[in-house]
Amino acid sequence: MAPRLSLLLALLLAGASSAQQQQFMEYMERRFGALEERISQWHDQSSRYSTELREFKSQVITMLENMEKEQDRLRTEVENTAVRVDRLEREVDYLETQNPVPSCVEVDEKLMENQVSTAKKRKNEKYDKLTDCSDTISQVKAMKILKKFGSSAGLWTKDPVGSSEKIYVFDGSRNDTVYVFPRMREFTLFSATRKAARIKLPYPWVGTGHLVYGGHLYYIRQQGTFQVIKFSLANKTIVDSSVFPAEEQVPVFGLSAFNYIDIAADEEGLWAIYATRENEKNICLAKLDPVSLDIEQMWDTPCPRENAESAFVICGALYVVYNTRLPSRSRVQCVFDVSGAMTPEDAALVYFPKRYGSHSSMKYNPKERQIYAWDDGYQIIYRMEMKKKLEI
Ligand SMILES: *[C@@H]1O[C@H](CO)[C@@H](O)[C@H](O)[C@H]1NC(C)=O
Ligand SMILES: *[C@@H]1O[C@H](CO)[C@@H](O)[C@H](O)[C@H]1NC(C)=O
Repeated sequence: MAPRLSLLLALLLAGASSAQQQQFMEYMERRFGALEERISQWHDQSSRYSTELREFKSQVITMLENMEKEQDRLRTEVENTAVRVDRLEREVDYLETQNPVPSCVEVDEKLMENQVSTAKKRKNEKYDKLTDCSDTISQVKAMKILKKFGSSAGLWTKDPVGSSEKIYVFDGSRNDTVYVFPRMREFTLFSATRKAARIKLPYPWVGTGHLVYGGHLYYIRQQGTFQVIKFSLANKTIVDSSVFPAEEQVPVFGLSAFNYIDIAADEEGLWAIYATRENEKNICLAKLDPVSLDIEQMWDTPCPRENAESAFVICGALYVVYNTRLPSRSRVQCVFDVSGAMTPEDAALVYFPKRYGSHSSMKYNPKERQIYAWDDGYQIIYRMEMKKKLEI
């Protein structure tokens, strides 16, 4: 460009003397030379800047990559720690099994004898309240995963009264057909429902709070409000029904929104676990008369609904099972004893050994002292180890 410009200027200055022209031309050449140098310096600089920018960029990228790696490492570490905590918990559980408090065992044996003799005495009588029930759970002694059947929510149960071996299966949180298997063996060995009888209920059920007790099926129906229906298994008719005396009910467990009333059996009879809008933070408990469905007494428990997934009653004490982080182990974290014999501090906060998803139901069988649980479509039995309420 410089030579073309100097040519142009040379033409413009054609009128000046040749010496002047010569001087001017030299001057202009110098100026152009200086300018060209500056331009080439700028070029150098800008290419240096862009190199530096490139280097900076690659540094930032390396840093980001390192940070990601660090994050991964931290995540793995956290996961490893969770696994270790889990293993520790299991080890503690195991150590506890290895070192049971000796007096409890004796008491348990005596209690068993007691129960056997009581059972004999009452063989022909109606199942009645066992006033001497003063046991609490100390831990899960063993668990057995029986099979995977049906939907993620459901319940399975066995009549704790009488000698029937039948297994009743309610698949799903809304249906009207109950499967009945003659024995546990038929339920666990055979696929699906080939060996099962079916009972079609007059109204569909809602939730997983149902129960079989003393030859009757107690189930929850929703017809605007919630109703407890008592259905005779002998002649397949509705014997009785009652509406809950709560203005507006809310789901009783924060983590299983389909349950408004959960009926539970224990050594003393039938209970209903529920929640109302009035006292919506906590779970309520009511004692039910199995014959008339009358509510004998009601309690507001201190157990929160939040993060609760299920509950059961043993010897007049409500045990609420919680789950806070997923996927973690379920744990009894709130105990409410209606007799007041056991303070929350005395109660063992029991862990359940394994879980798939969430316990949609946990049905305690007071005769067998085990819990029939439905964990994300898996049917599990938890055998419970007991101790006296007042012993630690
Ligand atoms: C009950 O469940 C079966 C099988 O899952 C389904 O075919 C049927 O429609 C359900 N009945 C009701 C009333 O929901
Ligand atoms: C069905 O059995 C129940 C007892 O379980 C009884 O109270 C009721 O009267 C019986 N109903 C019919 C129609 O036989």
